[in-house]
Amino acid sequence: MLQVFLIGVLLLNINTAAAFEPISTSIAVGMAAALTGFLATYQNIFYYFEECCRPEWISFNKTGLEVDLDQKLFGQHIVSRVVLKAITGFMKNKNPKKALVLSLHGWTGTGKNFVSYLIAENIYKKGMASSFIHQFVATAHFPHQSQIENYKSQLQHWIKGNVTNCPQSMFIFDEMDKMPLGLIDSIKPYLDYYETLDDISYRQAIFIFLSNSGGENIMQVALDFWRAGKDREEIELKDLEMALSLSVFNNKNSGFWHTSLIDKNLVDFFVPFLPLEYKHLVQCGMAEMDALGLKPNHTLVDQVVRDMTYFPKSEKIFSVKGCKTISSKLDFYREHV
Ligand SMILES: Nc1ncnc2c1ncn2[C@@H]1O[C@H](COP(=O)(O)OP(=O)(O)OP(=O)(O)O)[C@@H](O)[C@H]1O
Ligand SMILES: [Mg+2]
Repeated sequence: MLQVFLIGVLLLNINTAAAFEPISTSIAVGMAAALTGFLATYQNIFYYFEECCRPEWISFNKTGLEVDLDQKLFGQHIVSRVVLKAITGFMKNKNPKKALVLSLHGWTGTGKNFVSYLIAENIYKKGMASSFIHQFVATAHFPHQSQIENYKSQLQHWIKGNVTNCPQSMFIFDEMDKMPLGLIDSIKPYLDYYETLDDISYRQAIFIFLSNSGGENIMQVALDFWRAGKDREEIELKDLEMALSLSVFNNKNSGFWHTSLIDKNLVDFFVPFLPLEYKHLVQCGMAEMDALGLKPNHTLVDQVVRDMTYFPKSEKIFSVKGCKTISSKLDFYREHV
């Protein structure tokens, strides 16, 4: 804006000067060009240091996401495949027909927030710290069912404002299963196939819903496979779709109950997280030591992981808390054992 204004003033001066002095005209033209160059450089430097809604700060690294899902996410072969496909397809598309909507489901501590983090890291240069990522936690932001009308307008306002500011915004709704009934319906228009709403296009935004709903049914499928002596990696998305549909769509506590997001097929991918086993917890423990810059100590990790609780009671296969408390337990063992 400033650039346009200054150039305008200079050109005005050039026009008046031109009638009298051809030499000063060429000097003024030169100055205008120099000033434009300076401002462009200044602006580029500004873009470089200050996060803004531009490709310098927002660009998808497909290989990065692929490698991260492959090497950092443990025991979630279906999640890796679905998430990579969903994000890649969406980010490659210059003109998506709607916003991308992912719904991540599963037992506690199985990596739902972690996957959101990996996605964020490979799209936004500042990762989760980006000002274009917005997280809502149901119990913290929307604690009272009685306030639902307020929440609805706040949420709509918030989404509209942020997408106006940057179309490639990402919204994460955590604890969807604890969301006040009906609240999520209020964001439906933003997820739908509209070209624009009040001149704003929401088609480049990403919405990620996280919830524990479906976790028990997913666990039951994993347990059936285990009991049948089948490999965990043989479980396919289609084996879990029924488990998800029963528990997510018909469950009053799923946050999605009877919502038009489901009726209208506005969720693009339901992503089921499998419960984690002993070997995955060991992987989490070793990764945690590595992240802390500690010398890998398999014996220590093994000790921590063995002390975790597993279910079902008879077979003790799946970790009750997934990988969730591994890092704090590792700290404790290092100090006290
Ligand atoms: N599958 C996994 N692979 C690698 N690390 C994992 C995995 N699952 C969990 N973790 C580790 O455990 C931590 C906690 O997991 P996370 O917060 O993603 O669980 P969650 O599925 O969101 O659980 P909740 O339903 O309780 O919110 C992560 O930050 C990550 O370090
Ligand atoms: Mg979580």
